[in-house]
Amino acid sequence: DKIVLAYSGGLDTSVIIHWLKEHYGSEIIAVTANVGQEDELIGLEEKALKTGASKFYLAEIEESFVYDSIFPTLKAGAIYENKYLLGTATARPIISKALVDIAKQEGADAICHGCTGKGNDQVRFEMGIKALAPELDIIAPWRSWDITSREEAIDYAEKHQIPLKISRETNYSKDKNLWHLSHEGLDLENPMNEPKYDDILEMSVSPEQAPDEAGYVSITFEEGIPVAVDGQEMDGVSLIKTLNTIGGEHAIGILDMIENRLVGMKSRGVYETPGGTLLYFAHEQLEMITLDKETLQHKQEIAQTYAKLIYNGQYFTPLKQALDAFVDETQKTVSGTVKLKVYKGNMIVSSVESPYSLYSEAFATFDEDDVYNQGDAEGFINLYGLSSVIQAEMKQKMTFG
Ligand code: ARG
Ligand code: SIN
Repeated sequence: DKIVLAYSGGLDTSVIIHWLKEHYGSEIIAVTANVGQEDELIGLEEKALKTGASKFYLAEIEESFVYDSIFPTLKAGAIYENKYLLGTATARPIISKALVDIAKQEGADAICHGCTGKGNDQVRFEMGIKALAPELDIIAPWRSWDITSREEAIDYAEKHQIPLKISRETNYSKDKNLWHLSHEGLDLENPMNEPKYDDILEMSVSPEQAPDEAGYVSITFEEGIPVAVDGQEMDGVSLIKTLNTIGGEHAIGILDMIENRLVGMKSRGVYETPGGTLLYFAHEQLEMITLDKETLQHKQEIAQTYAKLIYNGQYFTPLKQALDAFVDETQKTVSGTVKLKVYKGNMIVSSVESPYSLYSEAFATFDEDDVYNQGDAEGFINLYGLSSVIQAEMKQKMTFG
């Protein structure tokens, strides 16, 4: 018997290895997916093997994360509850796929994850597994074992001599990847508490720490996909890293929100998405000048559906594919360059340029022009306002007749 474990190297997953072996007697294959956690990946293999895994895989999925999940979501303009750029939600389906691939390769019977029974992530992982390999069993220890807190997990580790380099002092619940870093729990659980930004922030600085001088950054898109920063072409992974550095320096993309989880409760999180916030803003500016009115407004409605779908773990669904097809069609002319000014957490548009621009000075100008006949507007408004006229005449008759 073999179990593939979604392994992070943290306290939970170390305890889980021991617990799984005790309860299932199985061989444990620890799998960590590289989605850009950087330093968190150091020493994982050694740690996994030392705590009882028989094998360790580092699945290199950064590129797939960017091109199969982040960029489609960016193109869709999907933002959950008008705030959250879906940093964790976009990564989960791609990680699920990596877990399934390795489970198949290893001939494993089950996939195990360390998500709690109260969150979104359990749903996202399992929705992916069910869609890709319904025959695999799913094990979620937090939903079935007797351990109910981090403290008890540490007790378990000490009792069973699981080597951990973890202190008893607690940490925020964090999820780090290329696109974002989330912080939940501890003092953040009370919305009366202002986040201790200077302690919390890792990808960004607080506005107070940002330079007093504004910075500029220009982002070039081709068919809705970002391809260059300040005129320099780069692959998606490097591009996001570059924008994370610039955005982080200027305190861009720090979000404090209370969101509605799929499982019902509201939860409070602080999210850092420096590069992602620049990209969404720039992409939106470019769509403003390249998309026609009807397409733009319809796309804004679709964006909400798309965001819910990603948040709720419905990545591998027919609706997702259909929405992607719509979005891709709209992006054919979303090419060009947007220059932004960044200053202490603010983004200000400096210039927007596209060969497909529909913005016409000739039509829009307040100065004299020879392309638009103002007289045409009168007949238009007569018909456009006809139902209002009929309604008003009826009301006048009712009141005074
Ligand atoms: N609340 C966010 C979401 O549902 C972030 C979740 C972070 N996950 C974690 N395991 N720390 O997408
Ligand atoms: C968890 O509960 O495991 C993390 C938070 C979430 O999934 O929403």
